[in-house]
Amino acid sequence: MNDMTPPVVDGEPLEFNPLDPAFIADPYPFYRRLRETAPVFKAPQGFWLITRYEDVAFALRDKRFGKDFVGNIQRRYGNIDRMSEPAVASLARTMLVQDPPDHTRLRGLVTKAFTARRVADMRPRIKKIVDDQLDRVADKGEMDVMRDLAHRLPVIVICDMLGIPEEQRAPFLAGSNVNGRILEPVPMTREEMDQANLNTQMAGVYFKQLCDLRRREPQDDLTTELVRAEEAGDKLTAEELEANIGLLFGAGHETTTNLIGNGLLALHRQSEQWERLKADPSLIPNAVEELLRYDSSVQLTGRVTNTEVEIGGVTLGESESIVALLGAANRDPAQYPDPDRLDVGREHIRPMSFGGGIHHCLGAQLARLEAELVFAALIERMPNLTLPEKDKPAWRRSFTLRGLSKLPAVWH
Ligand code: HEM
Repeated sequence: MNDMTPPVVDGEPLEFNPLDPAFIADPYPFYRRLRETAPVFKAPQGFWLITRYEDVAFALRDKRFGKDFVGNIQRRYGNIDRMSEPAVASLARTMLVQDPPDHTRLRGLVTKAFTARRVADMRPRIKKIVDDQLDRVADKGEMDVMRDLAHRLPVIVICDMLGIPEEQRAPFLAGSNVNGRILEPVPMTREEMDQANLNTQMAGVYFKQLCDLRRREPQDDLTTELVRAEEAGDKLTAEELEANIGLLFGAGHETTTNLIGNGLLALHRQSEQWERLKADPSLIPNAVEELLRYDSSVQLTGRVTNTEVEIGGVTLGESESIVALLGAANRDPAQYPDPDRLDVGREHIRPMSFGGGIHHCLGAQLARLEAELVFAALIERMPNLTLPEKDKPAWRRSFTLRGLSKLPAVWH
């Protein structure tokens, strides 16, 4: 097969339209067809889609695949100068898209705050935040899970970690992250880019003020640690400081919000699994792994080949852009028997949802803990909760970051 020809399945060419609402509602049949017919497939958009677990794991971990973010953006947008857009330039300064040695330097500055021990120490505080959110709605008998709980919890947690004072949190609690749109494999419109630029600039102004304040009045928080690293000289520039605080904020909240929303939806669509958890809450940590696998809140991450390399029997040249479909790898039957079945008791789950290799998600333990405590609290406090709209869920028009715009719940 010519690598530019879409595979034809049942007489229909397989097209990749990641923002098509029907695709967003259920991308899994597409993944299955692609994995079965063309597991390393060059999409008409010019990048390679990888769908098998083994190939995704290889691309994320092998040193012949890097990020080359700036080169990749230039190839994708041709001669349009995307690096002059503040939102893109800011993302370019984050560890998420840097290669070593800059990646190693930037990541090394924050890893301490995310160790298993530090995260475990946060358990009582996170439990309290979950309870506070549920206290706000408990008597009403209804809530929008996304607005009232799933969005607020990770925002409050990351504000705590960064030392954002409570009285300054309202814009973060109200805001939604259109900047996530930069991570989509299709170009942004001018309006979307303008909005993302505005958000970046406003957040930049705020984070700069916060850093200035912490320089004068150090506290026991992550912002203070980063400011100290900046002051020590050669470790991080002022621009990198702001960009990486912005990354922690962005990476840390929408992803976790959607793990909670997608997870609760999946548990209620297969309600026998919710009943199983209620009967045996000790299954909750394993259920979180299974929910990460079953409907990941991050569907893809990118890599670029830095030399010729063979993957899944296909030889790719240098500077080829890879879209590693994490959501597809998670449903690979070669890795998970009966992959489309949700099974909170499934054994040996190693979801690809947090990526891998040197970029493996820094907040993975934190996200797991937040989700665990949410499901535990809901089971304990609202055991008869139901989701009236579970059969027609309101998916956001966003593919890379997969999640719901609302998720009404009722209980009595
Ligand atoms: C990187 C997923 C929560 C911070 C990543 C990557 C993925 C991911 C796929 C890229 C990995 C790669 O390219 O190989 C998720 C999911 C989450 C989540 C599914 C929740 C369910 C969080 C949280 C934080 C966080 C709570 C922090 C508060 C980061 C950072 C990176 C990252 C800083 C960049 C790491 C690097 O490039 O070295 N995450 N994430 N994430 N995540 Fe998460």
